[in-house]
Amino acid sequence: MRCAMPTGLHALARGVLFAGLVVGQVSAQTSGEVEFGQAFDERQTHGPGDVKEGYESADYRTRSRSLLDRRGVRLDLIRFAQHAPLGLPPVPVPADNPLTRAKVELGRKLFFDRRLSINDTLSCAACHIPEQGFTNNELRTPVGVEGRSVLRNSPTLYNVAYQEHLFLDGREFSLENQVWQPMTAHNEMAAPSIGYVIRKIRRMRDYAGLFERAFGGRGPDILTIGQALASYQRTLLAADSPFDRWYFGGRSDAVDESVKRGFALFAGKAQCVVCHRVGDEHALFIDHRFHNTGLGYEASVGESRTGTTRVQLAPGVFAEISAEAVDAVTQQRLPNDLGLYRVTEGPNDRWKFRTQTLRNIALTAPYMHNGELDTLREVIDFYDRGGVPNELLSPLIRPLNLTEEEKADLEAFLHALTGNNVPDIVADAFAAPIGDLNAEDPNWAHENTLGY
Ligand code: HEC
Ligand code: HEC
Repeated sequence: MRCAMPTGLHALARGVLFAGLVVGQVSAQTSGEVEFGQAFDERQTHGPGDVKEGYESADYRTRSRSLLDRRGVRLDLIRFAQHAPLGLPPVPVPADNPLTRAKVELGRKLFFDRRLSINDTLSCAACHIPEQGFTNNELRTPVGVEGRSVLRNSPTLYNVAYQEHLFLDGREFSLENQVWQPMTAHNEMAAPSIGYVIRKIRRMRDYAGLFERAFGGRGPDILTIGQALASYQRTLLAADSPFDRWYFGGRSDAVDESVKRGFALFAGKAQCVVCHRVGDEHALFIDHRFHNTGLGYEASVGESRTGTTRVQLAPGVFAEISAEAVDAVTQQRLPNDLGLYRVTEGPNDRWKFRTQTLRNIALTAPYMHNGELDTLREVIDFYDRGGVPNELLSPLIRPLNLTEEEKADLEAFLHALTGNNVPDIVADAFAAPIGDLNAEDPNWAHENTLGY
């Protein structure tokens, strides 16, 4: 396993990180909304609030940021969907769910509402964290309610509007329908049924009239809840990156020579472009297909660890603990994630996963379906080695023999794919209302229950 952190630590770290997440959510709420157009500090919009850099040294001092300082600036999100940022094609919008401001606004409210989970703690944004690329930089695989393990890494929601298949095994096809999976999955938001969520929302006073206004008189139901959430997510379009300004915008000074060399490698010697496609007028860096790179195979076969492993207990404090003991307490059994096979049951589809977009990739670590690779350099090294050989390895994955300079150029290119409008989208997310339990809401702790 190429884990920077021993697998055993994963579970230990999980509790701490999860606590950080919850705190982040609460304080984002108190930060509230500020006047439209107020000056906004870009530096606040990237990376985890819980900074662990230098944690291995005994004189570590926390630099974790308080979200209280982060200010939101509301944006008219729908304009991204109406005029897609440079480098993106027009957004596909289903005929039966045209985009409107009212739906986007409502979807945004639902997205940040912790009350959609069984115990009122977890919103969509807990795993798709806006300032972490709408993914989760701190955990390889996120945690659901009560710390339950989730099988896969949180994918970014930037530009998810263009995906033809949703989830890394492609088992869902529309954003409208997709939303019910996290809401009802036992290890995610754990609502016991779809009807339960609908009834809960119908009884929350702050939603009174909102659905009816957005959907021509129709209240919260299985269709409108999905349509609202889908509408918000469809506006999360992040492009107009330095690469786009150079490649599609014709501005040769938008990127440096290293990025240009990196792109030449991407499209040439390294053949990344075969799967991460780039068109003449725009680029999604996906092919809507599924490939076996060997990572899933490797995780399935696994390896049993012997000897000792170094575990960090506190800043500067380490202990050598038997690897077997560490593995035993992680409760993290190697999951055999068969990828596309789970949907098609075709033996040749074992360990195939959907090609991921590379837009905004510098913001969305850790990487791959199980979050196994921590850095872009690790991903490049992985491809350079030719993936992990197995009988079903994609013929398109083979050793690349890249030099160190070439790897650095490729990495520079990947860094040039971060959308210039990302800070705006994140600032808008900070301005969103966070749905938190209040005394009038239906909940087991209140007399006003769901009617049991
Ligand atoms: C507990 C963490 C968690 C929560 C909460 C959560 N998600 Fe996710 N989300 C994930 C993971 C993990 C995946 C990938 C799962 C897979 O591929 O099987 C995912 C996948 C997705 C996808 C598909 C993305 C793609 O590229 O295919 C969308 C869209 C999405 N989530 C939206 C939402 C919405 C909307 C909510 C709230 C209703 C939500 N998520 C709540 C963890 C979470
Ligand atoms: C055979 C098709 C194919 C080729 C060639 C390919 N990739 Fe990928 N790439 C994928 C697939 C499939 C995934 C998702 C794998 C997974 O989730 O386990 C992926 C994932 C990634 C990711 C992680 C995305 C994320 O959000 O986690 C990066 C970064 C990446 N590829 C970069 C590259 C680079 C750089 C090259 C060229 C050296 C390359 N890829 C070549 C298919 C390909």
